[in-house]
Amino acid sequence: MTKAIAGFSKLSKEEKINWIASTHFADADQAIETIRKYWNSDADLQKLHDEFIENTLTNFYLPLGVAPNFVINGKNHTIPMAIEESSVVAAASKSAKFWASRGGFKATVLNSEKIGQVHFIFQGDAVKLQDFFTQVKPKLFSQTESITKNMQKRGGGILDIELRDKTAELENYYQLHATFETKDSMGANFINSCLEQFAKTLKEEAQLFAAFSETEKNIQVVMSILSNYVPNCIVRAEVSCPVEDLKEEKNISQEEFAEKFVRAVKIAEIEPYRAVTHNKGIMNGIDAVVLATGNDFRAVEAGVHAYASRDGRYSSLSHAKVENGIFTFWMEIPLALGTIGGLTSLHPMAKMALEMLGKPSAHELMEIVAVAGLAQNFAALRSLTTTGIQQGHMKMHLMNILNQFQTTENERKQVLKHFEKHTASHSAVVDFIENLRK
Ligand code: MEV
Repeated sequence: MTKAIAGFSKLSKEEKINWIASTHFADADQAIETIRKYWNSDADLQKLHDEFIENTLTNFYLPLGVAPNFVINGKNHTIPMAIEESSVVAAASKSAKFWASRGGFKATVLNSEKIGQVHFIFQGDAVKLQDFFTQVKPKLFSQTESITKNMQKRGGGILDIELRDKTAELENYYQLHATFETKDSMGANFINSCLEQFAKTLKEEAQLFAAFSETEKNIQVVMSILSNYVPNCIVRAEVSCPVEDLKEEKNISQEEFAEKFVRAVKIAEIEPYRAVTHNKGIMNGIDAVVLATGNDFRAVEAGVHAYASRDGRYSSLSHAKVENGIFTFWMEIPLALGTIGGLTSLHPMAKMALEMLGKPSAHELMEIVAVAGLAQNFAALRSLTTTGIQQGHMKMHLMNILNQFQTTENERKQVLKHFEKHTASHSAVVDFIENLRK
């Protein structure tokens, strides 16, 4: 077992690397070489990355690819995607091309309200607490003015603050449940700063509220934090076309394709095991753009999956129907995104990704990201209900196997040629390479 180390964060970068290499690796020199190989040769840029987090040793690269030809609300976009999974960018590009000639994607932000809560314990009379809250509410607004001033200039701010009685679920537990509009910023810091001020005001004012007993005056704040569940920060993305225009598959009629596709979505609506994988396919597209634009994909993931369970059962995020000969495929999802603040202007690649997208507002970015998710879902379902997923997936994954076996240029050519006509599975590719090498 490795010995614990005290004061690791205080060591210099060199010292940290040396300790890691000599403690965890059989070949310390090799480990140091690998770590250093991934440093950026531009020292300032490396310093910027070093300072994003604590204890940075090096960088962990993900490919940044692009999916061109996305028509969204009549406008052409090239969508940047940061992702390691072989087939995702190819699938997005394929969907983009398919729908570009069928009217493109439509997307609309339905609302963009964010939420934060002060969780607190109050032991006493709930009616008195409500009176106190009514009296203190204007102060909750006025005492956050220095925090909200700039946000208000941009048209955002605190929308409302409610007192919520949660004592039926947990003894003496109440909340200040606040809603916010944060315009082009994701708003996490803004919301958390407001909440911490609410908590302070709440505690101080309770001490001065004459109707409270000594116990009632002693409000205990448990925590103040934004919620990543944003069911009122919703964007809708949609595609539709006459069923007869769906024709593209070789072995299936457009009617049969539409029927199979709609049924596949229905299965994800009613079957949680399938819904999770179905939604994972959507998140392939969403996370890749969220990451590329410097947004917080963990927040998005948490919020989206909670939304997928909002009716008490985990279900599909997307839906499909055929009505009067028109095929429609759509999705409404919560996305709390920002195009200013955070990493968006700090990470050079995030900045570039946003410029590539035409410097969108947060609403426009929500639309683009939702479309990337729907496109990904369309591509996956299209493959699943026609050729099966492995054909396209293995075609892209082939390069990973070729790299794993450190194939020569000549071997690569022969492998790629062979698997143009044959089904590629991992073992079939490995067998083929081994045969070539005999
Ligand atoms: C793989 O990353 C995503 C899929 O499994 C999604 C799906 O099954 O719909 C292909």
